[in-house]
Amino acid sequence: MQLKSIEQIKNLKNKRVLVRVDYNVDIAKGKVTEPERIDRTFTTINYLVKNKAKVILMSHLGRPDGQRVEKYSLRPVYGYLDKMAKRPVYFVNDCIGNAVKEKIEKMQAGQILLLENLRFYSGEEANDTKFARELASLADIYVNDAFAVVHRAHASVAAITKYSPSYAGFNLIDEVKNLSKLLSGFKKPAVAIIGGVKISTKIKVLENFCKKYDKVLIGGALANNFFVAKKYNIGQSVFEADFVKLSKRLLDKYKKKIILPLDVVITNKVDMSGKKEIVKVTDLNKQKNKKFLIVDIGTKTELYFESFIKSSSTFVWNGAMGVFEIPQFAHGSDYLARIMAMQSRGDAYGAVGGGDTIILIKRNYLENWYDFVSTGGGAMLEFLEGKVLPGIKPLVR
Ligand code: 3PG
Repeated sequence: MQLKSIEQIKNLKNKRVLVRVDYNVDIAKGKVTEPERIDRTFTTINYLVKNKAKVILMSHLGRPDGQRVEKYSLRPVYGYLDKMAKRPVYFVNDCIGNAVKEKIEKMQAGQILLLENLRFYSGEEANDTKFARELASLADIYVNDAFAVVHRAHASVAAITKYSPSYAGFNLIDEVKNLSKLLSGFKKPAVAIIGGVKISTKIKVLENFCKKYDKVLIGGALANNFFVAKKYNIGQSVFEADFVKLSKRLLDKYKKKIILPLDVVITNKVDMSGKKEIVKVTDLNKQKNKKFLIVDIGTKTELYFESFIKSSSTFVWNGAMGVFEIPQFAHGSDYLARIMAMQSRGDAYGAVGGGDTIILIKRNYLENWYDFVSTGGGAMLEFLEGKVLPGIKPLVR
C-alpha cells in the first residue's frame, strides 16, 4: 500500500502544515513518562522545520468525552516537546477559534505550535464536518503522522481529509510499510504471540492470524477465555463471558494452530504479598480454594512457547503474558520479551506493538533488538485484521 507522502509536497516554505500526531502518552505528576510516540514524530517535525514550514501539531490525550478536563491537557506534552525539539515550541490553550488563529498568524517559518486536546470538543470523536472544517481552516496542508489513532474515524483523522490537501508523515508511512510485512508475502513459519486482557478487542485479529499463520500462541488473561471454553476452573481470574463460545469455535476450527499455556502461575492476592504457585492447567479443576487468580504463564509454558518462537521466520507479538506490573508475576512476559528479541536479531522478521508490550521491551532494554516496534495498540491490531483503516484510506495513492 503506497501512501501520499509528505515528500510529495512541492513547496513547504511558509506553508502552514497541520500535523495530526498521537501524543496520547502516559503522564504522571505533570511529566511525560513514556515518550516513544512523541519521539517518533521528530522525523516529520524536523523535515517540516528544515523546509521552513510552520508546524502546527494537534493530538488527543485520554478520553475527556468532549469536555475541557484539566488532567487531559496536553501542557505536559508541550513541556517535553519544548525540551526535546531543540528550538522553542509554542502552546495554545485551544485547538480551534480566534485565539488559535491569532497565534498561527504570528508564526514564523520553522516554528512549532502545539494545540490543546482535540477531544475537549465532542466534534472530534463524532467525526463532525463543521469541526473538521474549522481544523482544516487553520492550515494550508494536512499531514497525518498518527498511526496509533488511524483506526478511529474522528474529525482530525478522517473528515478533515475532505477539506485539506492531505499527506502521510514519515512515522505513518514507516508503520504501514513494516506492518504490511505481517499481512502478506511473509516467510513461514509465521507465529503470532498474543496476550493482554481483553479478548473482545483481539478476537478478529486472532481469527486472521489463525487463518494465515502457522501457530498462534495465547497467553495473559486472553487465555482464560479458552480455559473456560475447555471447562477448566479459572477461579476468580478475568475473562469475558460473551466471548467463550467464540473462543470454543476458534479452538475447534484451529485445534493444531492455537497453542495455549501448559501451566500457569496462580495467587491468592494480586500484589507482592500474594502467595505464588505454578500449576498445570489440567490440574486447575483440582484446586481446593476456588478463590485463586491466574497471573502469569508457568515455566513449562515459557519453554514451550520459546520452541515455537525459535522456529519462526516471521513473528508478531502484542500483549503481556500476565500481570507484568507486579515483579513476581512478570517472569513469563520478561522471559519471552528476551527470547523474541533474540529471534528478531537473528533471521526472523519480528514486530511488536501495544502500550504494555512497549513498556516490557523498554524495561528489558530491548527496543533496538526488534525489527519493528509499532506505536499502535488498537490501531496495530485492526491493521493486522487486514482492514483499510479510516485514517489511512484517504491517503492511499
Ligand atoms: C491509543 O492509545 O490506542 C490511541 O491513542 C487511541 O486512543 P483511544 O483508544 O482513546 O481512541
